[in-house]
Amino acid sequence: MTAPHAPPPEGLEGVVAARTVLSEVDGQAGRLVIRGRSLDDLAGSTRFEDLISLLFEGFFEDLPADLTAALGEARAEVFAQAAYLDAGLAALEPVEAVRALMARLPDGDDLATALRLIAAPAVFTPAVVRVQAGQSPIAPDPALPHAADILRMLTGATPTAAQVAGLDAYLVTVSDHGLNASTFAARVVASTRAGLTSAILAGISALKGPLHGGAPGPVIEMLDGIGAPENARAWIEAALARGERLMGFGHRIYRVRDPRADALKGPVRAMAQGTGARPGRVAFAEAVEAAALDILKTHKPDRPLDTNVEFYTALLLEALDFPPQAFTCVFAMGRVAGWLAHAREQLAGGRLVRPQSVYVGPEPRKAA
Ligand code: ACO
Repeated sequence: MTAPHAPPPEGLEGVVAARTVLSEVDGQAGRLVIRGRSLDDLAGSTRFEDLISLLFEGFFEDLPADLTAALGEARAEVFAQAAYLDAGLAALEPVEAVRALMARLPDGDDLATALRLIAAPAVFTPAVVRVQAGQSPIAPDPALPHAADILRMLTGATPTAAQVAGLDAYLVTVSDHGLNASTFAARVVASTRAGLTSAILAGISALKGPLHGGAPGPVIEMLDGIGAPENARAWIEAALARGERLMGFGHRIYRVRDPRADALKGPVRAMAQGTGARPGRVAFAEAVEAAALDILKTHKPDRPLDTNVEFYTALLLEALDFPPQAFTCVFAMGRVAGWLAHAREQLAGGRLVRPQSVYVGPEPRKAA
């Protein structure tokens, strides 16, 4: 009989399971630091390619100074897999179809594998969205920056500067966030030396759940269900009375407002001034947010529940013409950079992740 262990906290809350140089989430101060840079400094002024370079520095030896061309080539390479997007895959949820296409990529630990894995959700998501809408996929343009090409592959039109800046701000904002559930999943798989593709497939599988990266689609459902600011309080109170959670609110680590919410609000506003955005949408969402925060205070007085990244993600991705059912795939386009850096960090220093469990089942029965 081994000595009994203290049971772990539910959901491993507060358990430190890795040392990382990649990012720090300060849940009390509402601060996110990515490799020594505050999110406030990064979002809105950094292209996604440069953020990838920041995350990958020291983890890949052959990193080019500018990843734009290499990433463009990777997009062109993985587009060949879009030929396997048949009716069966197109009938799946977008994140399941994208995951299935990504699973066709070979495993490996090198930079070429990593770039293919960054390119994959960026190329497959527009392809899946278009095929589901009865349109043909659009091939990547390797000469374009990553964010501009994603938007062009989605709509077929040249995006505006505000739209490209909005998508860059989003991808940078969600690129890494400490040891969240999907990053932990990716690190566990990386620790077995299965390869980067396997680690990223674990990450995307964990991400798709509504308690993690699956929340922004339901935020749109909530906004559409509410319809007008004057309905917000009654709608929210009824949802909570049914025992539902409000999507886009609450966080395991943040006890204050998620700093990523405000990093996205600026680009959302900038786009709302451009063409194509729904007039009054931001003001309506702000009214719903205010009502939700007020009601959550009385609903859970002991548990600070504030706005998380998913609330303004929903508005931003909606303004960029992504359908709500594909929002999780766009989250994966950004977070894949963090998963890869964490996987390499795990490989560089970490042992096999193999915790213990406490057996609470019955003792073996004696033979009759
Ligand atoms: N709406 C209503 N009640 C909530 C919410 C919410 N959004 N979030 C937490 N609560 C309540 C829970 O019901 C629970 O109450 P109980 O103790 O009476 O059961 C209490 O607050 C504590 O909740 P936990 O589940 O213990 O909190 P945890 O830290 O595990 O959850 C989570 C964090 C999953 C994000 C949660 O706040 C939630 O479900 N939010 C809604 C979904 C969402 O927005 N997900 C995106 C998160 S951001 C991201 O992953 C990128």
